[in-house]
Order: sequence, then structure tokens, then C-alpha cells
Amino acid sequence: MNATRTTGGSYWIETAPGTAYPPLDGDTEADVVVVGAGIAGLSAGRELARAGRSVVVVEAGRIARGVSGHTTAKLTALHTLAYDRLLRTRGAEAAHLYARSQTDAVEHAAQLVHDLRIDCDWERVPAYTYLRDTRRTGELRAEAEAARAAGLPAEFVAETGLPYPVAGAVRLVDQAQFHPRAYLLALADDLRAHGGRIYESTTAVDLDEGEPCRVTTETGATVTARDVVVATHYPVFDRALLFTRLATHRELVVAAPIAADRDPQGMYITPELNTRSVRTAPYEDDRRLLIVTGESFTPGADDTPARFDRLTDWAQQHFLGIAITHRWAAQDTDPTDQVPLVGRLHPRASHTYVATGFGGWGMSGGIMAGRLLTGLITGERLPWSDLYDPTRILSTVRQAPAFLHHQAKVARHFVGDRLRPPQVGDVSEIEPGSGAVVRVDGERCAVYRDERGEAHAVSARCTHLGCLVAFNSAERTWECPCHGSRFDTDGKVVQGPATRPLGPRKV
Ligand code: FES
Repeated sequence: MNATRTTGGSYWIETAPGTAYPPLDGDTEADVVVVGAGIAGLSAGRELARAGRSVVVVEAGRIARGVSGHTTAKLTALHTLAYDRLLRTRGAEAAHLYARSQTDAVEHAAQLVHDLRIDCDWERVPAYTYLRDTRRTGELRAEAEAARAAGLPAEFVAETGLPYPVAGAVRLVDQAQFHPRAYLLALADDLRAHGGRIYESTTAVDLDEGEPCRVTTETGATVTARDVVVATHYPVFDRALLFTRLATHRELVVAAPIAADRDPQGMYITPELNTRSVRTAPYEDDRRLLIVTGESFTPGADDTPARFDRLTDWAQQHFLGIAITHRWAAQDTDPTDQVPLVGRLHPRASHTYVATGFGGWGMSGGIMAGRLLTGLITGERLPWSDLYDPTRILSTVRQAPAFLHHQAKVARHFVGDRLRPPQVGDVSEIEPGSGAVVRVDGERCAVYRDERGEAHAVSARCTHLGCLVAFNSAERTWECPCHGSRFDTDGKVVQGPATRPLGPRKV
């Protein structure tokens, strides 16, 4: 990849070409319609097209620009401390299948990069989970042992390539990092080369689960298809109350060039300090781009600028002398039992499928989902299909606390946010460049005042299930704390599960 020096947002978006697929402007038919063109949707669409299915992909925005365009793109089967937890909650066979399926995803991507000659900065590197607290090294040893029992060549190590001391780490060699958008644009090309059709700026708003199924878009145009894959990160069609089992969080990313000889040579993550993750990517003049992620928070938190400052301070303290050139935010969806939900959309579904809940591991998870769903649709069921089946019930009492905690949090926002007094008493109190929820004629309105002083007012009720949105001042978006829908300052949907905009209001 040829990186261009920029300052600003997602490095992946700024260093890969844009796309201009047309919107769907009339009714059409296909064997399979895929809703959502991130890594899960494009992986599934491309696999299905290769398997001889006629495929239509509809994307509300532009392909590979949403969550997949804002990831840190670490492709690994080592997921922080997942194996020890899986072993305890779902048993040895589940841990084994999880390891196999995630490794299969890494190796499948490697094969694609080779076969399609994808120029996506593909690099084989080790993945590390580390801790600095010496009292917690037992957790690392347990994770290394559980991962090994699950079939991975993981090991506990005392040293890493990081420029600061650690108490220890779990290391898994031969994992991968890449430029996610370059990879996904190549997948889209291959999908089209096999007869697939892609429609951008096409928002799916309704799903009729007949035989065949029909997806209706906001313009009224429809796609009729035998099978439907819902791959919209947080599912826009949710017939099994999956939202009760999915919590959303955002994480911040800062990036800065460093000399190549300062590259820590690996992908690192620690659950400490509200998560810190480190990797690098090729950059101009033979330097590397250091990419640091952390500061997990619920969408709509009003302290995002302070969080960016904290993350920047941390990066600059641990990698001395760096100057931040890029910053962006990622969004993840965590299932209450921390295993992705991939498979039938609900217990009675025969032709509708979903892929969601990848936590912070959407790269391997999305590729895994593409292969799993293709297997379900073509009749070649993969051994790990049951592990990820979304219709599974909460299998042990150990998962109940996470489920209840998530429900309590959503209820707190749904009820508590309504009882709280508005952030400001009057629209005139809102400064240029900021936003607040204010009561106007008895209704809560989300009001943003632009730099010219003009007020942009929309309903503050999220169009998904009615929670109140809050302003993210760093990204200038309205965000819903309940399930993570995001809207621009004029109410347009930036990210689902909401599909309808916040209605305009007069102030
Ligand atoms: Fe569900 Fe807003 S995203 S209520």
C-alpha cells in the first residue's frame, strides 16, 4: 500500500480508494441478499458468489467504511483471555472449536491474499495478551494453558517487544495484520467478478421472511431472494431479541509514525487500564505507523475528548517523542456470553441468517462468519456451527450475571435518562460546535449548534427502541447508549441498529 501523510480520521479510509456503487433503484432478484458490506457481509457474499449463488449486497452507506473501516485490523485466534473463560463456561470442546474456527479464518484470509494477490500490507506477526500487574500473571498462565489445550501453539513468555516492562504475556505466533479496507475492496471486486452485485446508499428497512424472502429498502425497491444474510454489525432485523444479549462499546484509536527500529514486532493487547492495544502498519519513508487503541466507553459518553487526551498521553509516555497524526473511533458489540452470534436469525428461521457480536475481534470473526453462513446456505455445515448458533440459550448460570447487568444498564438509560433534567435549560445556552438535549414544547430535542451559530434540531428519541441519544463532542454525532445507534447532527443514521433518521424539529 502507498500511504499518504495525512492528519485526521481512520488511516484505512484515508489510504484506500473510495467506491461509487449505485443505489438499488428498482426491484430485483437473487439467490441470496446480504444486508451490510463490512467484513462479515463481504466475506459471506464473496464465498456464496464463488459457490455459484447469485448474490446481491445492499449497504446503507459505502462498503467497508463503517465498523470495518475503523477497526485496528488484527487477525488472530488469540482473543485476550478467551480460552480460559471458554473452558470454564462452555467446556473443552467449545474452546477447541473456537480455536479451530478462528485459526481457519486467519489461514483462509492468508490463502485469499495469496490467491487474489491482494495488496493489503499483509504481515505475519505474533499476537500477545499481556499484563503489567505481577499479581495477575496467574491469569496469563491459565490462558496459555487453556489455549494450548484448545489446540493453539500458545505459550507464556516473560519478555515482549514492547518498550516498557510487562509482568508476562501469552504469545501466539504466526498471526496476521493487514489493511482491512484494501482487503475488503479486493473481496468486493472478486464478488463482482463472480456475478455478485453491490448497491451502496441502499438502506434495508424491512424483511419479509416468506418463501422466497423479500428485503425492502427505504426507497421501496425490493430484493427477492431465497436466503437473507443480516450482517450489519448490530442486526437491523432482530426477530429473536438479540438486542437483549448484545452490549455495545466504543473504543478510541490514535496513530503516529515511528522509526522502523522502534516497531514492537507484534500485536499486543492488555485488559488493564480499560484496554490498551498496540500494533503497527507500514508507513511512508520506511517508517511504521504505531496504532494504539483503548478507552472503552458506552456510546453517548460526554467525555470523549478527555478520553482521546488520556489515550494520547499514554501513547506518548510509552512511545516517547511520537506525534499523533490520525485518530478515530471503533465500535464493538459484545454478546453476554462473549461468543459471536452467527447462524439462523431466530429459532424458526429457515432462510434468514445473522452475523453479529464479534466483540473486539471482528476481523477473524467476520471471516469466520462468512464461511460459516456460506456452509449453512449451501448445505456444507462446518463443525463449529453449533458453537456460534445465535439460537443457543444462555447455557450456564455463569452467563446470567452479564445478561442481567446488560439489561439493567439498558433499563437505566431507557427510564433514567427520561427522568434526568435536560442538559441545558434553553437552546441559547448551547455553544457553537457543541450539542445538548433540551426540552422544547414538552419534547426532548437533540440540538447541535454549528460553527456559524445555526441550530440543528432533531428528536432525541432513538428510532430503534426509543432510548434518548446523547452528544459525542469529539465525533460530533448523536449516539444511543442502549444499543449503539449513531446519527449525524441532522439526524441521518451513521450506524445501526436504527434504520430511520431522527425526525427534524423546530427550535
Ligand atoms: Fe436501541 Fe437506540 S440503539 S434504542
